[in-house]
Amino acid sequence: MSARIRPATGAGGPAIDEAARLLAQGELVAFPTETVYGLGADASNPAALARLFEAKRRPADHPVIVHVTGLDSALRWSASMPEGARALAERFWPGPLTLVVPRAPQVPDAVTGGQPAVGLRAPSHPVARALLEAFGGGIAAPSANRFGHVSPTTARHVADDLGDAVALILDGGPCDFGIESTIVAFDGDVPLLLRPGAIGAEAIAGVLGRAPVEGHAAAPRAPGTLASHYAPRTPASRVAHAALRAEIAQLAGRDERVGVLAFDAGAPAEFEGVWIAAPRDPQRYAHMLYASLRRLDAAAVDVILIEDVPGGAAWSAVRDRLMRATAGIDDDRD
Ligand code: TXA
Ligand code: MG
Repeated sequence: MSARIRPATGAGGPAIDEAARLLAQGELVAFPTETVYGLGADASNPAALARLFEAKRRPADHPVIVHVTGLDSALRWSASMPEGARALAERFWPGPLTLVVPRAPQVPDAVTGGQPAVGLRAPSHPVARALLEAFGGGIAAPSANRFGHVSPTTARHVADDLGDAVALILDGGPCDFGIESTIVAFDGDVPLLLRPGAIGAEAIAGVLGRAPVEGHAAAPRAPGTLASHYAPRTPASRVAHAALRAEIAQLAGRDERVGVLAFDAGAPAEFEGVWIAAPRDPQRYAHMLYASLRRLDAAAVDVILIEDVPGGAAWSAVRDRLMRATAGIDDDRD
């Protein structure tokens, strides 16, 4: 069976009202955010959370982000708000930033994976905001993909992955950013970058007066940040510009059908696989990345080659997702 998709706008209306009612009844609703589509459940309802993990086929000890309207509602889910977290929320919310802070006692264990901290985010997408307003509570929402697959950036991607495991999909069009939020945790006052995203480490340092610590050995457990989630199903590898032609020739010689996500290179004249030329701007690249990986997956190629992107801070979130997409099989994916 296929999922029910309803167009929605930030102005509210019957689709938003129905989605809020379904959430209140313990059902699952997928909705657009400015990063990727989320699979939403009432964050205070353990039965709804169980259904959420079941639909994603995700292990129960993986924490999920609670989506809220802003700092005021975030305070209902946190035991305390480190000064740095408050400053970041004031600067970047609503927007693509998740803050991991000490949890309030009533937060269900299913939300935090039993950890002492909870992830909170106030999304800026008008449909997500309209849904949060209409529902009136926190919405637990991981990315609306099956565990181990790339995040969805359109309503159709959600339907392809989850089918009728979700009661309703709100369609707000393609997501602006296209990759998941930046996640910052706090070890006491020390900011830790758990996942790079649209908001760069320099922008965070600009607010905090210090750079967030990367590599996060001291961070709370964040299984979804392990190397290989966000992967396409087809084996994928990253290839340097200089090595791309030789790699393609070698695969073609073995009769393998190749899909290429190219950055600088043009397709060789004799190329017979699927070629996608990526934009050269990091924001536009992120915007199309997951849709491109899904397209290559769906084209039934044997191998996906991803041409390396530039170094430097502007590309760090994209590089992070490319590394995960090419990290090979691992059963610890969000
Ligand atoms: O952009 C986003 O963040 C999207 C949209 C839907 O908001 N959501 C998203 O959720 O990417 P998910 O569950 O696919 O990834 C959330 C990441 C996971 O890696 C999870 O482990 C981590 O956040 N996380 C959530 N709560 C945490 C916590 N209490 N402590 C440590 N990590 C946490
Ligand atoms: Mg995810």
